[in-house]
Amino acid sequence: MPVEEITAAAAGSWTLGDATVHRMGFGSMRITPHPDPGRAIGVLRRAVALGVNHIDTAAFYVSPGGTLNVGTGPARYATELIRAALAPYPQDLVIATKVGFAYDPAGGLREDASPAGLRAQVEENLRRLGRDHLDVVNLRIVKRPGRDRVAGSFGALAALREAGLIRHLGLSNVRLDHLDEAQAIAPVVCVQNTYALDNRGDQDALLRECGARQVAYVPFFTLAGKRRESGAVTEHADAVRAVARSHGATPQQVRLAWALHQGPHVLAIPGTGDPAHLVENVAAGALRLTDTDLAALG
Ligand SMILES: NC(=O)c1ccc[n+]([C@@H]2O[C@H](COP(=O)([O-])OP(=O)(O)OC[C@H]3O[C@@H](n4cnc5c(N)ncnc54)[C@H](OP(=O)(O)O)[C@@H]3O)[C@@H](O)[C@H]2O)c1
Repeated sequence: MPVEEITAAAAGSWTLGDATVHRMGFGSMRITPHPDPGRAIGVLRRAVALGVNHIDTAAFYVSPGGTLNVGTGPARYATELIRAALAPYPQDLVIATKVGFAYDPAGGLREDASPAGLRAQVEENLRRLGRDHLDVVNLRIVKRPGRDRVAGSFGALAALREAGLIRHLGLSNVRLDHLDEAQAIAPVVCVQNTYALDNRGDQDALLRECGARQVAYVPFFTLAGKRRESGAVTEHADAVRAVARSHGATPQQVRLAWALHQGPHVLAIPGTGDPAHLVENVAAGALRLTDTDLAALG
């Protein structure tokens, strides 16, 4: 099948709260740097046309000035680009956002997980996305061993969920003890942590535990690995190149397929502002790695 005809459905599905999403999703952090909003809008519409129904975002994905702090010209908010591209939203589309940080043009990006700050961030997401509720809200924390409890902030979000502003809650950049703490307060549908073939860190046990608890594990920087905000890895290990060659795939597709093979509850959210990369990434959901491939990839 031609690569541009492969849809996100090829990756299989997972039930996130009360919504079924394709396991190949889309991360919107990379759509803001390009100065032409039409390009981002085109990528988002193409993603949905290719069956993507899980889009990750944040109100602080804004260029210039937000997380990536690149680009020129007027501010382009990922949330507003999503609205421009996709509203009225398809029924099956799940938009996951994250809070715990606030951005404003005067003060820049700052951590704020206070109850009032979280409420303001939820309201900003609602306003910019043009919605009356948010499908999934992840509490994104900064880990500070010994003083990084999530109960206060997660409890504040649970109250907003009870009030109907949020449908489902998740966590980001967390350990297992954070998941335990949050689950004692309210249901958690996903954990979004950094994880990649060459940057597994200490995540394998948490990933497995999420699976045992039926919590989705959503890796970010799957393509970027340790390069993080700097962009995709370009120097690939021999094993990655060999597996890619044997499947007629690209190394980036192998990285995504490897992540999806770590469990049925793993949801990929590769980020791109490039239409050709989008098609390539979605097609990675159709790549079936063998046990030999997985052993070679380590
Ligand atoms: N919870 C958190 O703290 C957190 C932190 C960071 C990100 N996130 C979320 O996770 C998503 C994924 O992270 P990410 O976007 O930073 O990193 P990523 O998906 O690992 O990699 C994105 C980078 O790879 C490039 N790329 C994408 N597809 C490619 C392909 N097929 N071939 C070559 N290069 C390719 C992109 O550039 P092009 O645009 O040129 O394709 C971009 O530079 C984000 O979009 C965001 O929604 C969450």
